[in-house]
Amino acid sequence: MPKNTMQVIRVHDYGGPEKLVLEQAPVPQVPSDQVLIHLKAAGVNPVDWKFRSGSAKQFMPLTFPWTPGLEGAGIVEVAGADVKAFKKGDEVYGLVSGAYAEYALAKTNEIFPKPAGLTFEEAAAIPIGALTAWGAVIDTAKVEAGQHVLVHGAAGGVGLYAVQLARWKGAHVTGTTSASNLEFVRSLGAEQVIDYQAARFETVLHAMDVVIDMVGGDLPERSWQVLRPGGVYVTVAGRLAADAGKAQNVKALSAGRAPVENLKRISELIEARQLKVVVGKVFPLAEAAQAHELSQTGHGRGRIILRMGD
Ligand SMILES: NC(=O)c1ccc[n+]([C@@H]2O[C@H](COP(=O)([O-])OP(=O)(O)OC[C@H]3O[C@@H](n4cnc5c(N)ncnc54)[C@H](OP(=O)(O)O)[C@@H]3O)[C@@H](O)[C@H]2O)c1
Repeated sequence: MPKNTMQVIRVHDYGGPEKLVLEQAPVPQVPSDQVLIHLKAAGVNPVDWKFRSGSAKQFMPLTFPWTPGLEGAGIVEVAGADVKAFKKGDEVYGLVSGAYAEYALAKTNEIFPKPAGLTFEEAAAIPIGALTAWGAVIDTAKVEAGQHVLVHGAAGGVGLYAVQLARWKGAHVTGTTSASNLEFVRSLGAEQVIDYQAARFETVLHAMDVVIDMVGGDLPERSWQVLRPGGVYVTVAGRLAADAGKAQNVKALSAGRAPVENLKRISELIEARQLKVVVGKVFPLAEAAQAHELSQTGHGRGRIILRMGD
């Protein structure tokens, strides 16, 4: 049986990283159709600090106390009475709400067996990044073999999967990143990598078929200049006006996370070594505030991870 109480990060009010407080709280009761996971690792996503700060409260108001975290990996501690698919001791990963904690509940259709050979930290680095990249590259842009695809933010927690999925589809991939990540992005399969601090990509590229944007800011308008007529621009990093791209004769689309069942296919690609998982900096759970500070810089490589104590 799990302990009665657990260590958990809780937020009691909107604000800065200092609002992330390590507390003792009761371990959740397990509904009959869910599982309780003893978490070993959780992913830290930009949306976690957007929720925490209050900048997203218009469309996603929080109820306090609130525990951040959308993804994690660990061991099933208790399977609810009606659960057939999982049992105590199974190693799992997936979408886990409130994952900055030693224990959290998960729906059985949102978790999957941990891919063979992966650590818990690696498994926790998959769900949001890979599903979002799948939503952008496969479901929305519908990238095809032979296409020329530009990926902005190619070294980040989403971008690293976008590069690899476009390559997996047989596209020629160009990535943008800072100088420190040029070799890393090449190692993901990008044929061409542009240091965004050294060159403006629109002076180097033209007639691209697809742009996948993980950065936003002024990149939509600049990206439309490098697309061929009828080319496709997909963003996961902002909202687009209804007429976005029309004057430039490009298709401009927003993408969200692909449905969670795609994690099954993603697990298979990882086990077949067709998709690499990349863990960024790892922090202990107690240092969630430092993890948010790093994520808020908007720079880095791979998914930042929180590790729970043993
Ligand atoms: N719509 C959705 O469902 C959804 C889901 C997940 C994420 N998102 C959004 O997608 C964005 C990326 O998320 P993430 O998890 O990948 O973030 P991340 O892990 O923090 O990565 C951000 C990356 O952007 C790069 N970067 C920063 N400025 C750049 C520029 N001007 N040009 C090219 N690259 C630049 C950084 O690379 P350097 O260190 O080399 O600068 C860094 O690797 C966030 O805005 C997030 O909120 C949306």
